[in-house]
Order: sequence, then structure tokens, then C-alpha cells
Amino acid sequence: MSKLLNGNEISLGTCYYPEHWDKSLWREDLERMQKVGIKTIRIAEFAWSKVEPTEGSFTYEFFDEFLDIADEMNMRVIMGTPTATPPAWLTSKYPDALNARKDGTLFRHGMRRHYNYNSENYKRLSSIIVEKFAKHYGKRKCVIGWQIDNEINCEIAEFYSESDDMAFNQFLQDKYKTLDALNDAWGTVFWNQTYTEWEQVHIPRTTVQGTVNPHQTLDYYRFISDSACKWVRMQADIIRKYKKEEDFVTTNGIFGHVDYRRMRDESLDFITYDSYPNFAYILDGYDKDDSSFRDRKWSRNLTETRAISPIFGIMEQQSGANGWNTGMAAPTPRPGQITLWTMQSIAHGADFISYFRWRTAIFGTEMYWHGILDYSGRDNRRLKEISDIYDKLGKISEVAGSTYVAKVAVLKDYDNIFDSELDVWHENVEEKSQDAIFKAAQRSHTPIDYVYLTESITEKDLLKYELLIYPHMTMVNESFLPILEEYVQDGGKLVIGCRSGYKDMEGKCTMDYLPGKLKSLTGNDIPEYTAISPDAGDVYIKWGKDEFKASSFADQLFACTSTAKVVGSYEDDYYEGFGAITENKLGNGYVYYYGSAFSEEAAFVFLKNLGVIDPFNEYFDIPDEMELAVREKNGDKYAFVLNYQRKVQNMWLKKELKELLSGSIETEEVIMQGYEVKIFKL
Ligand code: GAL
Repeated sequence: MSKLLNGNEISLGTCYYPEHWDKSLWREDLERMQKVGIKTIRIAEFAWSKVEPTEGSFTYEFFDEFLDIADEMNMRVIMGTPTATPPAWLTSKYPDALNARKDGTLFRHGMRRHYNYNSENYKRLSSIIVEKFAKHYGKRKCVIGWQIDNEINCEIAEFYSESDDMAFNQFLQDKYKTLDALNDAWGTVFWNQTYTEWEQVHIPRTTVQGTVNPHQTLDYYRFISDSACKWVRMQADIIRKYKKEEDFVTTNGIFGHVDYRRMRDESLDFITYDSYPNFAYILDGYDKDDSSFRDRKWSRNLTETRAISPIFGIMEQQSGANGWNTGMAAPTPRPGQITLWTMQSIAHGADFISYFRWRTAIFGTEMYWHGILDYSGRDNRRLKEISDIYDKLGKISEVAGSTYVAKVAVLKDYDNIFDSELDVWHENVEEKSQDAIFKAAQRSHTPIDYVYLTESITEKDLLKYELLIYPHMTMVNESFLPILEEYVQDGGKLVIGCRSGYKDMEGKCTMDYLPGKLKSLTGNDIPEYTAISPDAGDVYIKWGKDEFKASSFADQLFACTSTAKVVGSYEDDYYEGFGAITENKLGNGYVYYYGSAFSEEAAFVFLKNLGVIDPFNEYFDIPDEMELAVREKNGDKYAFVLNYQRKVQNMWLKKELKELLSGSIETEEVIMQGYEVKIFKL
């Protein structure tokens, strides 16, 4: 059984860099960690040269010496593979390993993640170092798992090296087989882009105004994801040959242009997330608006993480001030904030929290990015707070292994996510709607999940939810339609927002009447549509007794089957009186088409009118500024209430409940200190 995320405990870890410190500190550091309850460390993810100082010469002593101490002290170790930072000998001998800017300029040594996934030399040398790591260190008692690379696609999620260019060409030949098929898929007849030889086909390159064929760009994003997935797969396959059976394989962070569902299925036991909510307090970008979500927004990233692994770990949890030599400066977390952010992660499904990092680096790009300890390494307030967190976790160990409870899910798929990055209309409504739905759900204490539509999704996966919202299904993958229809027939409610159904999977616009392939679900027709004109003023929609503002877009709707009807209409501009919301009864369920983007108000009305809002209101009356998150195991529910404000706030319990951290029974008015978190057993 894995030593992490096994449902028995919620445990603590930290990121440690033995190569940054004098060896005389190692033992003392591990002892101090254990004293505050830190049982796991992640090491080595940037330390290639410590094992292969020059090409082909391997020396294991450095980490052996460290791991001997870890073994002796029963410390648990997650080994990183060191491929995010290729050694200088490698990049100078094999410049094809480097990533490049769009104009071809190579990214040189001095930063990290300056490599590409497609260089044959880099793949060969990386597979050798991963094999050496796995073979040599994999059987160690203290090693409990592996982190592949570090933050795939962080810092840069686009690749323009020669190696990528060649690999993209091959990716397209495998996909399209003939140039005719490619020309057709990319609509190359437009502006005379027709290709007559495969050598003419490239990754997006520098063009006038930076505008590239949109179908080419869509395939390019898919290619980046494919390259990243194969990169992780290559390493996972090697590690799995050597690791102990119970040891896990993961990677950390969630970044752009990666299909994480595929990556997880092919290569990972679970994903780990890196959570830095202190970015909300960054010195040059702080949002002064008190109703903004600041650090609470990280709950959205955690929801995203949960969509990949229902129970997950945090590989890097903020424990100090932000700061690189080039920017990102933010203050030291205030007393209570490390606890708040730790509990935020746990509330959303994390059963392992590893703090970044034990000691603050005294040199290098990240010497202003603080860990738990400051430069001197002396005991401090943050270390004490982590020790207190450890005590708290002892009181909630029964929460380990429980999963987040939600009756509402927002549907996503990677093709539409990639499309929303290159289609300005899609991007505009997508960003607004995702933000609004998240905020409306948060403020109304309606827990939500994200669910990725994939080939392997079943109706059972969907029927867990009373309501599914697909904000903008611009591209319609027909293979998902039967399962959505079954879900509705069997009593589910599905909401689909504007600009849906107008593209095929190549990103070309359909000549069908809109909403194209979604028509049999929605039962409606959209003869006209428009972006809401900047000179239109506020355009209102009326749905029963509710009135709210349309946002960004106005699809003008008609019901066109006997089961469909218009339930909400526009009240302004030239489309006043036209349908804004249609309802289609299908079997035991309903499909709603909403002709605009979601504002917070609109999302709130949908949650309310479709009967899913605030599902725990029999227990709680909680102010908007606090988050409610609920986890469940064997019929027991654990409700986390998180106060993100510095100020004291009150909440109200409608029933007597046991609060796990204090052990006391609470009822009626409950005082929440600034940044306080309470966990009630329901
Ligand atoms: C993460 C990264 C760490 C460290 C940290 C603070 O993105 O994985 O290695 O750089 O941010 O900047």
C-alpha cells in the first residue's frame, strides 16, 4: 500500500535541497522537521549534475550519503527526476535540446525549463539519467514515490525548436496521412496557404501581426499536449521498471496545453498540485476590491486538481514570502494564513501537504522566495505554525480518504479549452463564465466539481450530479452526445451556454442551423446572434420573477420542437422579446440553453431556479465571504468553513454540531477569528 494518500492520515512534507546546504546541516534539518511533524521530503528535482557531472560519468555518492541519513531516521523521500534543468555540458554540446522563441532564438542556460520534449538527444540523455536514478535509488527503504520532472509546461507552454518543428510535421503526417486531408482540415485554400510538399508544413512561426491559421494552431496545441504526455510517459515507464511496487509516480502542478486526464491515465498514480495563494497579495498587482476573491481563488485550481485526481497531494504549499530576483514579490504570510491555505487544500481533497521549502535559498534566482525558515535557519513563527498544523491534523485524521461532495459539475474538455485560447469570441465568454460560475457557487455555498468529458466517461460518472453546466461547448465532439442525452433522459439537468455548437473538431464553423449538432439536445434554433454592442447599455434578461444582465453575447433563441419552450427573454436592444433561455424536456430531465455568457448574477439564478443552491443550508447560515467545502467518507460528512478575511466574522449553526479541531459541540452563533477554519462533523 502506498505510503501517501492511503486514506489513513493527512500528512506533512517539505521540499528539501541537500545540494544547497552544507552536509553538516542535513541530519539536524531532518530532526527538526520530524519534531514539527514533517515526515516526508521531496528532493533532487533540479540536481542532474550531482549524479552525472559530465556526460556518461555517474556518481551516486552525494544522494547515497543523504539517503543513508534519511533511511536511518525513517524519513520518507519523494525522488524527483532532474529533467527540468538540463546540465550545462548537455545544452552546450546538444543545442537541439533547447527550446526556442517563435522567431527561432534559442533559450540559453541561466533559467530552467529551457529544454524541449522532442529533441532526440534530450530524450536519450533524459531516459539515461532517469534510469540511473530509478535503478540506483529506487529500492531504498526511505523512497516512497517519484515526481517526474518539475511543473510540466510551467514558465513556458509553447515550443518552437527545430526538434519540435520536425516532430510536429510527423505528428501531422500520422494524423492526416495525406496533404489533401491536411489542406482540407486547415482550410488552406484561404489566403493561398495550400501545401504541396510535407517539408512546407511547420509549427506556427513568425507571421504578419502574429496571426496564424487557427486550425494549424489548434493542432499545434494538441501536439504540445501530446509531446508533454509522451515525455512523462517515457519517464514513468522507466521508473515503473525499477521502483518498489507500493511506490507511486506523480508530477506536480497544472499548466497550459496539457491533457492531464490522458497524462494521469497513461503515466501517473495521482497528480500533485503546487499551491501559492500568496500571489493574491503580490505587491504590484493586489486587487483592492474587497469583494474580489484573492487567495480564495485558489479553490478553483484545487477544484481543477480534483478533476484529475479526486484525492491528491500538494507537492508545494506556500510557507513564506514570494520573490524571484526578477519579480513576483509578496509579503510574508500573516499569522494564520499558512494554516488557512493548508486547510483550503485539505478541504478540496488533499491528504498530503508538502511545504515549499524548508530553508530559504541564500543564492540564486529564488533567494527571495521564502520557505518555512528564513536565511539563518533559526526557529520562527512559521515553523511554530506548521507544528500547530500538525497537531490539528491529528484531530482530523478521520477525514483522510474522504472525497469532496458536489451536486453540480461544470463540464470541460481539452479541445474546447485549447480552442478558447485561439478564438477571441470563445475566450471572452469562457473566461467570464468560468469566473462567474465559480464565484456564484462559492458565495452561495454550493460546492461544485469540474468534470472532463473523455472517451471513458460513463453515465454513472455524470448521474452523481443533479446539474451539469457546459458553459460554452463551441466545438462539439459527437462521441459525447449520447452520454449527455442519457444523463438527461434519466433525470439530469444540463445547461449549455451561448456560442455552443458552431464548430467541428477541426475548429471550422458549421453551416448547420445553430446550435448545430446540439440541436437534438436543446430543441432550439438560433437564427441570429451578436456580441452585445458596447453602445447597447445594459441588456436585461427576464426569467420568471428573476431579472439579470446578459453578458458579452446574445444568441437569439426560438424553441423548435414540441418539447421545447422559451422560458427567458431579452428585454433590451433590437432583440428585445427574443428568447434568451430555452428549456427542453427530454425524458425525465431538462436541457437549458442560455444565450449569453454567465455573469455571477446569472449563474446564481440558474443554481437557484434549478434547485441546487446552498445544499447544506439545513445546517449553516454562512456569510458570502466564507467558503464552505464538504468531504465525505462512509456516510460521514466533514464540513470545512474557511474565513479568508483578516477580520472576525460570525456564522450561524442551525443544529448542534461537533467541531473537530476544538472537540467542542457548537451551536447557533459561532465566532470565526480572522483566517480561522472550523471543521464540523455532520
Ligand atoms: C514552483 C516551483 C518551485 C519553485 C516555486 C517558487 O513553481 O515548482 O521549484 O520555483 O515555484 O517559485
